[in-house]
Amino acid sequence: MAVSTNTDRGSWNSKLGFILAAAGSAVGLGNIWGFPTQVASNGGAAFLIIYLICSFLIGFPVMVAEITIGRNTGKNPVGAFKALHSNKFFPLVGLWGVICGVMILSFYTVIAGWAFGYAFEELFLALNMPAAADWLKDTGNGLKNAIVATVFMLGTIKIISGGVSDGIERATKTMMPLLIGILVIMIVYVLFQPGSAEGIREYLLPDFSMINADLIFSAMGQAFFSLSLGMGALITYGSYLNKKENIPQAAAFVTLADVGIAFLAGLLIIPAMYLAQSNGVNIFVDGQLADSTTLVFTVLPALFNSMGFIGTIFGVTFFLLLSIAALTSTISLLEVPVSYAIDEYDVTRKKAARNIGLGILVVSIIISFNPNLIDYFVIVFNNIGLPLGGFLICVFIGYAWKTENAINEMEYGFAGIRQTLFVKVWPIFIKFICPAAILYTLGQTLVGLF
Ligand code: TRP
Repeated sequence: MAVSTNTDRGSWNSKLGFILAAAGSAVGLGNIWGFPTQVASNGGAAFLIIYLICSFLIGFPVMVAEITIGRNTGKNPVGAFKALHSNKFFPLVGLWGVICGVMILSFYTVIAGWAFGYAFEELFLALNMPAAADWLKDTGNGLKNAIVATVFMLGTIKIISGGVSDGIERATKTMMPLLIGILVIMIVYVLFQPGSAEGIREYLLPDFSMINADLIFSAMGQAFFSLSLGMGALITYGSYLNKKENIPQAAAFVTLADVGIAFLAGLLIIPAMYLAQSNGVNIFVDGQLADSTTLVFTVLPALFNSMGFIGTIFGVTFFLLLSIAALTSTISLLEVPVSYAIDEYDVTRKKAARNIGLGILVVSIIISFNPNLIDYFVIVFNNIGLPLGGFLICVFIGYAWKTENAINEMEYGFAGIRQTLFVKVWPIFIKFICPAAILYTLGQTLVGLF
């Protein structure tokens, strides 16, 4: 194994640095695009409940696990597994994570491009330039998709070339409160519109008969995706983390922030869907979603337009914030293969960021011309790939590296940990509950396929 001699690895600057970066990674299109879309296509409040259970009971313990592995080894996912155990299989888990990250980034960039394009669409609409607005609005236009995706990828490469530090921290610090603020204002507006009650009922009153294997499978995948788990992003971010930091506390904060923002996004978008439908926008056709991939890009602009001039300001601001949120997520996705290349192949950060980023962009361009591929990528790399990665991480800690060693690592930055309930409960989740729940979910789905 090549030992990295360059100083390209980097570390977080401020005490809040890691939390901001991890929260920035978690909060993104998964919350605003993925979650409401899944709620709408999978049984409303029933999905919300299963999603909350998956996030807190499965996602949170796995998040603590990933960060701990990262901080203990100070390495990328592949190097971390190598460093902790001699078993030759586990580094492949890290490699699987790197592959999932690369594939997720390839379609994520296309959707991020849509969000970015919509910021300008709203602007052009206000400037009375409908042709330009229409061009940006067309999510089926391959060339346009490819152009905005390229802009987005170049931005990601530029930031990653500069290293993990101020950029991400500063962007997240401003973006998150603003995003929460604008979501809350929009929610209040929507709740005062006649007709939103049906959406609220759909979102908050569960019909438990909707819960089935498919719904659980989607909720599990969505929880992993939204928390950025299962592919080593948090192993990588944890590897830049200082020993003074309290890992369970940081993970709890990130989980709460991520789930909270997803919940708010649902509270806005589900009622807004019903409003749009009653205003003649085609959301449901025969009780099914007309187009789930582009759902939020239909619903939100319709909502902003209904608000008049102030809607333009909200629209532009909202889509710009969403683009920043997406950027702090693409950064974490690109950072994983880049840190792997820096550590294991001793290339410079600049070169790794450029070559890997441009390589992924080739796949993004293919997806730009075939956006229907996104659904397949989501099933294979999010819904199967990430929980599978999470399962293997649990097995690794539970049965190879051992939870006791992980607790020893957590003790740095959390001196009283041995007196807490956490120390008794977390190992049980990692050894039994999380792997069993994930295996059951994936197994049910596999059985359903045949
Ligand atoms: N969590 C991000 C979102 O919700 C997406 C993301 C960023 C991600 N990094 C990740 C998903 C790593 C899985 C793994 O938009």
